[in-house]
Amino acid sequence: MDGPIIFLALVALASTAAMASDPSQLQDFCVADKNSAVFVNGFACKDPNTVTADNFFFSGLDKPGNTSNAGGSSVTPVAVDQIPGLNTLGISLARLDFAPYGLIPPHTHPRATELFTVLEGSILVGFVTSNPGNKQFTKVLNKGDVFVFPQGLIHYQYNIGATSAFAISGLSSQNPGVILVPNAVFGSTPPISDEVLAKAFQVSKQTVDMIQAKF
Ligand SMILES: *[C@@H]1O[C@H](CO)[C@@H](O)[C@H](O)[C@H]1NC(C)=O
Repeated sequence: MDGPIIFLALVALASTAAMASDPSQLQDFCVADKNSAVFVNGFACKDPNTVTADNFFFSGLDKPGNTSNAGGSSVTPVAVDQIPGLNTLGISLARLDFAPYGLIPPHTHPRATELFTVLEGSILVGFVTSNPGNKQFTKVLNKGDVFVFPQGLIHYQYNIGATSAFAISGLSSQNPGVILVPNAVFGSTPPISDEVLAKAFQVSKQTVDMIQAKF
């Protein structure tokens, strides 16, 4: 008699898993109305009669981003802020540029799985699973290689080549969000107390202060 109950539980579990992305739309499109005073999850819809092709359009992804910064990397997002027509569609893109030995530091996208495709260069990538395992899955990717970073998990991309590199990522949210671990932990406003961080990282407060000073 347990059979049907277990089956129903599995069906419920499967349908929960299928919803692990932005909510699905109830109409053809809901172009973001950035001027609406209504606060909804995402953006309110623009009047469909005023929607134009340009609301579904972005140009310039052929141009490399500016990698003259401490990390030597640059991210050009193509999400709902750039294309209002992505509102409610649960998908976006980004172009990632790397100077030689450029790094996109450990970070997580709270709302999206990422499908990372290398178009030029050799990039060391990795992601780490949740506690208690904290297992790292890592690989060196070359031109044409694709790698998945599951939603919410901490990952990084590091150009191990002496030439610049670039990649395109697909993301399963109109607004994936990003939490850069070093910036969030050591560069928050106001800062997390050095007493807390010293205990968390098992180092002295002076070491914490030194790292915090860099952000
Ligand atoms: C790239 O960024 C650096 C640092 O912000 C800036 O000095 C430089 O002018 C930028 N280069 C271009 C081509 O925009």
